[in-house]
Amino acid sequence: MKPQILKNISLQSYNTFGINCTAKNFIEVKTVDELLEVLEFAEQKKYPSILVLGGGSNILFLKDFEGLVIKNSITGIEVIEENEENTTLYVSAGENWHQFVLFCLEHNYGGIENLSLIPGTVGAAPMQNIGAYGVEIRDVVERVKVIDRKTKKTFWISNNECQFGYRSSIFKHQAKDKYIIIGVEFRLTTKNHTLNTSYGAIQEALENDSPTIQEISKAIISIRESKLPNPKEIGNGGSFFKNPEIPSSQFLKLKTEFPNIVGYPISDKITKVPAGWLIEQCGWKGKIVGNTGAHKNQALVLVNYGNAKGEEVWNLAKEIQKSVFDKFGIHIEPEINIVG
Ligand code: EPU
Repeated sequence: MKPQILKNISLQSYNTFGINCTAKNFIEVKTVDELLEVLEFAEQKKYPSILVLGGGSNILFLKDFEGLVIKNSITGIEVIEENEENTTLYVSAGENWHQFVLFCLEHNYGGIENLSLIPGTVGAAPMQNIGAYGVEIRDVVERVKVIDRKTKKTFWISNNECQFGYRSSIFKHQAKDKYIIIGVEFRLTTKNHTLNTSYGAIQEALENDSPTIQEISKAIISIRESKLPNPKEIGNGGSFFKNPEIPSSQFLKLKTEFPNIVGYPISDKITKVPAGWLIEQCGWKGKIVGNTGAHKNQALVLVNYGNAKGEEVWNLAKEIQKSVFDKFGIHIEPEINIVG
């Protein structure tokens, strides 16, 4: 059957920034077979480009999308194996990430409680190796199931082959636009959970010293709710920039000029500097520029206060980038996918 491609669909509710742009062609797929049919059809139609959308929580559209947007809504959670120590689950790409976290907490599967309340879908999570409060998805991913866009063959990419790095993976680099992620296999703990509570803010939010994974999740949710704007209320895509990694020698020099600068050594030569701090020092925190601005509680989060166009947010981002470079000599790179 010929897939029912919709024409000129508003993408406003499909991106958490709430940018009102349109997709010239749009289809939502709910099964792998539907996805394969759409890919076959798209090949005949020769669309200029194809964009696969998960939760749309890490994307900024600069203009209308001329090609075909495929909204991946393939769902399903399956327990593959469960023993005393570990539980292996296969989760389809279209599942909402936080709903999956809640499912795991309900069944007492441990490993992703620190990743509570991250917007987006399970399939998008490996793309940028989502992370928060000391945990990254790379710690729990066993392998990722993909379809090759050209050959339409399905296969697995192991954790190692994913080449996970800080907010990065093979899917953002060498294999950009090569595959469509259709599901992820996770290996979680069944009973003896390894807790990660070293992050200062978690310690403060926890009520007791030996918390359960459910209590850790509650603490994370309250930290996130207190700092990060809810995209349902104020459009945003989480952290707009990555935290830059600079030579430790440069960091030491900056420290003499800016004694309060924050830095986390990640090796003996490299120091990670919080972009939120740099942006705040440049005076952007809470500043409103037209329909956009840097959030009042987290300067790293750029927001859409109303009818911002993607270009408007992007212009602000470039101004911020420039001011950080002028003041500190550090180039901050977007973490968000810019499409335009
Ligand atoms: N800071 C400021 N001013 C600000 C924001 C932050 O001075 O406006 C300082 C804080 O005081 C703190 C440091 O920067 O010393 C780090 O801030 P925070 O703990 O809020 O984390 P972050 O480095 O800004 C990263 C992730 C977040 C993740 C948090 C918690 C990136 C790009 N962002 O933010 O992830 O939730 O850590 O682990 O790595 C996302 O990727 O979309 C995201 C929200």
